[in-house]
Amino acid sequence: MEKIVVKGGNKLSGSVNISAAKNSVLPIIAASILSGGKCVIKNAPMLEDVFVINEVLKTVSADINIDKENNRIIIDTSKLSYGEPSGELVRKMRASFLVMGPMIARFGRFKISLPGGCNIGTRPIDLHLKGFTALGADVSIGHGYVEASTRKLIGNKIYLDFPSVGATENIMMAAVLAEGETIIENAAAEPEIEDLARFLNAMGAEITGAGTDTIKITGVKNLKGTTHKPIYDRIEAGTFMVAAAITKSKIRICGVNEEHLKPIIAKLTEMGVSLEIEGDSIIVDGSRELRPVDIKTMPYPGFPTDMQAQMMSLLCTVKGTGVITETIFENRFMHAQELKRMGANIKIDGRTAVIEGVERLSGSEVKATDLRAGAALILAGLSAEGITEIGDLYHIDRGYVNIENKFKGLGADIERINY
Ligand code: UD1
Repeated sequence: MEKIVVKGGNKLSGSVNISAAKNSVLPIIAASILSGGKCVIKNAPMLEDVFVINEVLKTVSADINIDKENNRIIIDTSKLSYGEPSGELVRKMRASFLVMGPMIARFGRFKISLPGGCNIGTRPIDLHLKGFTALGADVSIGHGYVEASTRKLIGNKIYLDFPSVGATENIMMAAVLAEGETIIENAAAEPEIEDLARFLNAMGAEITGAGTDTIKITGVKNLKGTTHKPIYDRIEAGTFMVAAAITKSKIRICGVNEEHLKPIIAKLTEMGVSLEIEGDSIIVDGSRELRPVDIKTMPYPGFPTDMQAQMMSLLCTVKGTGVITETIFENRFMHAQELKRMGANIKIDGRTAVIEGVERLSGSEVKATDLRAGAALILAGLSAEGITEIGDLYHIDRGYVNIENKFKGLGADIERINY
């Protein structure tokens, strides 16, 4: 087994390079099913979740070449044949469900294990299924599987009750080869959706409005392969921005898009962190005394739920009272329990956490309870007194490339050890 051991107290300095967004790359790999040709993904992050979705594609005979040295993934779907991924594989990662839309579009049918609950909430798939049904698919659920079939998909108007990222992506991918026009209203507007649309359009799709709450998709007969460089990971960048703030350091983060970071920049600025954009870099200076803030997670362009845990770690170290309201997932405060082991003063009431800053956190043995919670604990460890040991690293490895090496490069005292 592995754990990350952090000795807190070091100041960070220098620069760190941000990888491509996991949440862009996963749907893009799923979308390559639609191409019927060769797709090349440049600067791909070599992450567990990315490997899992590639395994899912292999079950439908996609020819995949992962070039780890050059961070390149080449996917050839010209010889695709119908197949169904094992339940075990699908349950490893909820985003496996993103192949459903492309598979229905390509084969007119698909059966896949229900992604199941996840530890951050119940995470239903009703909105995805509502979309497929509106496009003319017969959808049924039984024995732990969801099945859809259709003679052909036909464009329709679909209103999402909630701007779900996954549902918007899945419906968009199903609709690109449908007959006629599809309009998704109250669509999610996350930058990763815009990136997926950019990829699909480069393959020959006709999508407008991605990145806004109304997306229009005009169906085309077929698509072709393309080469794509995904956007930078705004959550990884945000995590390093908080690292500078929590260690009261000044660092340069290379590989950012200011527009995508706006909600995070706004909150950190409100806290007193100094942030300066220079091209596609951001210089973060957390050396001033910080103020607590109130944060409410919202769909984009609101404050991202994927940065909530990291901000909680930061608020634990800032004098005064901060409040976090989590509106996206109903059970996303598990890191609070772990932070309390480090001496944090946090009170949870339903979807609200009240955080009273303490003088200093103290290093402890903790567990990553989910991906972003794991990152939050590393951040807490960087500022804590003494040694923090973080277990259950598989959560962190799902979404952060080389996290301990990136922190080490900034001067942190951090090691991954086998025990
Ligand atoms: C994606 C991201 C995840 C991020 C989340 C919210 C990927 C691979 N993952 O997850 O990192 O935390 O967006 O920004 O991109 N919901 C329904 N019915 C549905 C679908 C969703 O009620 O059919 C609800 C969920 O339970 C949740 C909310 O909508 O409460 C948001 O979920 P959604 O936007 O779908 O998140 P994901 O796409 O799973």
